[in-house]
Amino acid sequence: MTDAHAAPRGVGVVVVAAGSGSRLGASLPKAFVPLAGRPLLGWALDALGQLPGVRSVAVVVPEGLVNTAHAAWAGVGLPDPAVVVAGGADRTASVAAGLAALDPGCDVVLVHDAARCLTPSAVFERVVAAVRAGADGVVPGLAVVDTVKTVDAGGFVTGTPDRAALRAVQTPQGFRRAVLDAAHASGLGATDDAALVEALGHRVLVVEGDPRAFKVTTADDLDRAERMLAADAP
Ligand code: CTP
Ligand code: MG
Repeated sequence: MTDAHAAPRGVGVVVVAAGSGSRLGASLPKAFVPLAGRPLLGWALDALGQLPGVRSVAVVVPEGLVNTAHAAWAGVGLPDPAVVVAGGADRTASVAAGLAALDPGCDVVLVHDAARCLTPSAVFERVVAAVRAGADGVVPGLAVVDTVKTVDAGGFVTGTPDRAALRAVQTPQGFRRAVLDAAHASGLGATDDAALVEALGHRVLVVEGDPRAFKVTTADDLDRAERMLAADAP
């Protein structure tokens, strides 16, 4: 439910960085793998420094890395105020841990993958603006360039959805706090928070994403991110 008359009380940001990065296959958890000499997490947090109205940040990391004095944290600048908490067995559990650690006064919550480490702050701003404008849930998305097929368990095609109606979604995903809290309390599981919110019957708006918000998943993705930063360098 939206209350357009309620005063804005600030943005809370949950940055999930507690995954192991099994597909990247590095010796460190993915968020702590160096990209141009600094952990992915450091790059991911940079965007928050430029975002107006941030009241609280929860950074969710593997249990063994909760202590920011650990060497793996070198080069990560934590925003102020920020808390660091341990994640859970899957992404949904890690988001829930971050949500529980946010300042309860935040009325808008963003959930962001540390693995989308080069996401421009303009994407964060678009998402916040759309939540503030009244949407219960907002996700950044890009048009899909490939034709997509649905298939059955045997690999046979069951359909070809209209590509014009498809969006590949990214993070940060933004929500009214009460909506996201209810979605996590529902006990459902999903690969993103928007799907939990959709399952409760809320409408989720897609705003324009950005190619730089791609997720570092494999070694090729890490190379791509390195090339992007090299191209940015003066
Ligand atoms: N994540 C998390 N807690 C988990 C699993 C994932 O906080 N238990 C976070 C990751 O750190 C990442 C984001 O969710 O920032 C998206 O997940 P993904 O790209 O799948 O990262 P990993 O789970 O670490 O990678 P993989 O699936 O290859 O193991
Ligand atoms: Mg994963």
